[in-house]
Amino acid sequence: MEKFKILALSGSLRKASYNSAAINAMKVLAPSNVEIVIGEIGCLPLFNPDRESENIPSLEKLRASLNESSGLILASPEYAHGISGPLKNALDWLVSGIEFPYKPIMLINTSPRATYAQEHLREVLGTMSGNIIESAYVSIPLLSSGLGCDGIIEDRGIAGALLAGLSQFCSEIEDQ
Ligand SMILES: Cc1cc2nc3c(=O)[nH]c(=O)nc-3n(C[C@H](O)[C@H](O)[C@H](O)COP(=O)(O)O)c2cc1C
Repeated sequence: MEKFKILALSGSLRKASYNSAAINAMKVLAPSNVEIVIGEIGCLPLFNPDRESENIPSLEKLRASLNESSGLILASPEYAHGISGPLKNALDWLVSGIEFPYKPIMLINTSPRATYAQEHLREVLGTMSGNIIESAYVSIPLLSSGLGCDGIIEDRGIAGALLAGLSQFCSEIEDQ
C-alpha cells in the first residue's frame, strides 16, 4: 500500500476554530497509510519580500514540511468575503519557493455560505500554480454546530465526508 504524507493548514488562529477542528479530526481519522502533518502558520512573520533571503525558522519548517508532502490540505475561514489573513500571509511566503507549484491540493470548506473565500482561495492557488483536486473538495456544515475535533469524529456524516475526500485525494495523487 502506498504511503502518503500530507501537510494540512488551517487558516484560523482561533482556539475553537472549526477549520482547525476539521483538520485535527482528519489526522485522527486518516487510515494508517496516510500521515497528516499539521503545519503552523500563526508564527510566520508578516510577508515582506525584502526578507525572502533571510533564514526564518518558522518559514523553513513550513517549506520543509511542504517539500516532504505529496499533497496539501487547506481549510480557511471567510473573513469579509476573503480568505484569512494568516493563510494569505503563508501563501505569499510560499509564492517564490520551489515547493508549492503543481502540489496537489485538497480544499475543505467548513461553512457552505462562505463562497467568496473559496473563490478567492482558488484564484490565489491557481495563480501560484497549485493543483486543486476538485473531486476531493469537501464542504461540511460546521459553522454554529458547536462541534470540535471529537464531535466531528463521532458525527458519521461529517467524518464520512472528510474521509471520502481524503481517499479521493490520495487516489488522485497516486494516479498523477
Ligand atoms: C471579522 C469577521 C468577519 C467575518 N466575515 C465573514 C464573511 O464575510 N462571510 C462568512 O461567511 N463568514 C464570515 N465570518 C464568520 C467566520 O468565517 C466564521 O466565524 C468561521 O467559523 C471562522 O473560522 P474558524 O471557526 O475556523 O475560526 C466572519 C467572522 C469574523 C470574526
